[in-house]
Amino acid sequence: MKNPNDSTLLNAETGIDPAEDGVAKQEALCLQSLAPLLQQWNDEHQDLSRSIRETTLWLGQVSQRGIPRFGELAARLSLMRQRMKQHFDREEVLGNDLQQASDCLEVKTTRRRSVNDHQHLTQRIDDLIARLSELEPPFDSFQQAIDQVGLFVDAFEQHEEQEAQGLQWLTHYNSDPRRMPR
Ligand SMILES: [Fe+2]
Repeated sequence: MKNPNDSTLLNAETGIDPAEDGVAKQEALCLQSLAPLLQQWNDEHQDLSRSIRETTLWLGQVSQRGIPRFGELAARLSLMRQRMKQHFDREEVLGNDLQQASDCLEVKTTRRRSVNDHQHLTQRIDDLIARLSELEPPFDSFQQAIDQVGLFVDAFEQHEEQEAQGLQWLTHYNSDPRRMPR
């Protein structure tokens, strides 16, 4: 008969190897300590979404008026870029902290994809700002510039949505009773 303290025995209730369970408890504790950071990310994400909605609303209005406002659009995008960059930097710090709290594959993959997306999105908004700021902006029309900004906003929102889903997954992972510290 096996020794009941034998760590190779599976917990009858949870079906989890006790050694693995210990790592899971540690991970869950670390992840719990990140809750304020996750909340901060969520608040900031909401602020940023609100300010982007204001810009898209403004774009809709100027589009209807049909008067080119390249300079103003560049200024609004510069402001959006500043807030976006701040958010990306914070997300990358959060990603590093999550990575330290849990080395599960999902965290690694999400983090790597986020960093790539941030670089790509930053390059894209920088390029838009640079073109909109030229003396003769290289667009067929102001409407074409508006459309390109709209595509950028779509890409940004898709990225944030993917990140939100990743964090939601992590929250569920963290609240799985088999992984909670007892
Ligand atoms: Fe992000």
